[in-house]
Amino acid sequence: MDYADSDGISDKIKALSPWFHNLHFEDGTQTAPDHFLGDFPRFKWLQLAPFIPEDLSGCHALDIGCNAGFYTFELARRGAEVTGIDIDQRYLEQADWAARQYGLQDRVTFRQMQVYDLAREKGEYDLVLFMGVFYHLRYPLLALDIIAQKVKGMMVFQTLAMPGKEIYKQVDHPINERASLLEPGWPKMAFIEYRFAGDPTNWWIPNHAAVESLLRSAGMRITGYPGHEIYLCEPDHEAPSCISTWNREEYLAALGENPGR
Ligand SMILES: C[S@@+](CC[C@H](N)C(=O)[O-])C[C@H]1O[C@@H](n2cnc3c(N)ncnc32)[C@H](O)[C@@H]1O
Repeated sequence: MDYADSDGISDKIKALSPWFHNLHFEDGTQTAPDHFLGDFPRFKWLQLAPFIPEDLSGCHALDIGCNAGFYTFELARRGAEVTGIDIDQRYLEQADWAARQYGLQDRVTFRQMQVYDLAREKGEYDLVLFMGVFYHLRYPLLALDIIAQKVKGMMVFQTLAMPGKEIYKQVDHPINERASLLEPGWPKMAFIEYRFAGDPTNWWIPNHAAVESLLRSAGMRITGYPGHEIYLCEPDHEAPSCISTWNREEYLAALGENPGR
């Protein structure tokens, strides 16, 4: 079937629904015009776009949890070669179809993968998008440790977060002094046992302090704040993660790869 005409596009959009990304096409059709978050994720991209180089020619980018590929396509339009990964085959079908509609199929690759599978992949990326996925993970710090090792240049991190911007400056504490743990700015993640926003795949919601300290702990330096709950970071070669030094064995064991046993 040829979907070049508007009716064909609308039919295909319907056949591939429901959509989480509202993709816009030249003829004015959109995939999720009534999205509960608004024109999503275009309004987020407008915050982020000025922080991403206009010309990404020669850049290899990775879009983790790419969904229908909105961000993948924006990076590809700037000249990057982009790999989008997601666990959901339905979203990947949407992304594959949209890539052909946009004529970007030669610059993008979509793969069905768990974020944890990246541990077994070779190579690093100039630009990594890790947006809207962290809080969906049952093992979020393992994922962050894996991903941080894939970042050569910049990572964009975005997460649902707890309210508040406080930061408590951590020091060592005697074992019976626990009140500081209750400070609003102590890094925390709220655990979701059942559902959040009706979604049982939401597991952990960090506060701002936790995002910053988790990123640092994974060996990243925060370099900017393009918008609400969006963080830019890059590898901090002066403060590498403990998984590349004294705690490597635990990391390898978590991956089932501890060669010492
Ligand atoms: C809230 S959506 C975010 C989509 C997009 N990154 C964005 O920011 O608009 C979360 C996406 O992550 C994917 N996802 C969830 N868990 C994942 C995992 N363990 N590995 C890879 N992708 C995952 C979901 O299928 C979904 O497409």
